[in-house]
Amino acid sequence: MQLKFTEEQLMMRNMVRDFAQTEITPFIDRMEAGEFPRDIMKKMGELGLMGITSPEKYGGAEMDFTSYIIAIHELSKVSAVVGVVLSVHTSVGTNPILYFGNEEQKTKYVPKLASGEWLGAFCLTEPSSGSDASAMKSRAVKKADHYVLNGSKIFITNGGEADVYIVFASTDPSQGSRGVSAFIVDKSSPGLIIGKDEEKMGLHGSRTVQLTFEDMIVPAENLLGEEGEGFKIAMANLDVGRIGIAAQALGIAEAAYEAAVAYAKEREQFGKPIAAQQGVGFKLADMATKVEAAKLLVYKAASLRAAGKDCGKEASMAKLFAAQSAMDIAIEAVQVFGGYGYTEDYPVERYFRDAKVTQIYEGTSEIQHIVISKHLLK
Ligand code: CAA
Repeated sequence: MQLKFTEEQLMMRNMVRDFAQTEITPFIDRMEAGEFPRDIMKKMGELGLMGITSPEKYGGAEMDFTSYIIAIHELSKVSAVVGVVLSVHTSVGTNPILYFGNEEQKTKYVPKLASGEWLGAFCLTEPSSGSDASAMKSRAVKKADHYVLNGSKIFITNGGEADVYIVFASTDPSQGSRGVSAFIVDKSSPGLIIGKDEEKMGLHGSRTVQLTFEDMIVPAENLLGEEGEGFKIAMANLDVGRIGIAAQALGIAEAAYEAAVAYAKEREQFGKPIAAQQGVGFKLADMATKVEAAKLLVYKAASLRAAGKDCGKEASMAKLFAAQSAMDIAIEAVQVFGGYGYTEDYPVERYFRDAKVTQIYEGTSEIQHIVISKHLLK
């Protein structure tokens, strides 16, 4: 198998690389200081990146899924924050509406999400239900022409910044996962309380907040799909979303590897570049092998998805491996940089902090093992 991109994909990759260098690199310090990259997302909207896979009919660029993964990969090499904001906005913020919404919902929401005027978010996790997602306590009670939504969500990426939230709540707790329903919630809805901003180890500049829904009135027309279909909507979109997070992890891994190679060639100890010391050379060899293997898994999952084939197992494998590789490589990159690597003067300490969460969100590595083994034993 060979990775071979089309002319169109290569042009898009060059465009994203240029954009990342000219627009994102100068913004990194501001993100590290906590600033959300709203202006960058607006510019990405102008370039068509916020609706990269959305149909032209709804204002999107209608590019193939692999192009989207190339974009996340390249953006994340420069900023894992921009990578995750785009991944969540697209995979789990916009796509549930595209795949499960009716025509009115698509016409109302997708064009503004695709242009970058609106940002999307996904609200599944709760304080007491993370990996066991269907054990959620949020409740939506049907009244005449609306639902009354009550509950709390936690660790919501893009929370507070997003204009549109895909929210999961139980409409029939007696049915377990089959009683979960999905709703499209506007930021302006009375009863949406934006809570604590998490102070995170990494991904500074990406907002992660708690949300509370207090007697929120959700119009019945904002039910996404059918009542009771919500858990499947969440799982199906996470299957695809995990390829985006795998691409983010790949971007971090590759950035850390390239930084380590460049430094190891330039830094001299014992009269020669440290790259020429076997201990360092072997580390670089391991890093390069992990990057290559992660790349193959990520783009294999992407190409399956692009061809409209099942990709749940491959998405989980890609995320599991790319996330582990990003962490391993970032640890070793700091080691190659030695004392300098432990300072904020070099980017490897940022890669180290940013890599960790790829093993946690959109399903922990342990959950990816569960998903993969369920597929194997089907
Ligand atoms: N697609 C469609 N339907 C699916 C599915 C899939 N991939 N996986 C499961 N289902 C369906 C099953 O068919 C089943 O339906 P029926 O009852 O009709 O048969 C139903 O869902 C329940 O399935 P399971 O019994 O397998 O579900 P479970 O309760 O054992 O949970 C799990 C499975 C894989 C552990 C799931 O809970 C899970 O993925 N947990 C992790 C949650 C997660 O990834 N959270 C991420 C939050 S979003 C985020 O992190 C974004 C961000 O900030 C970056």
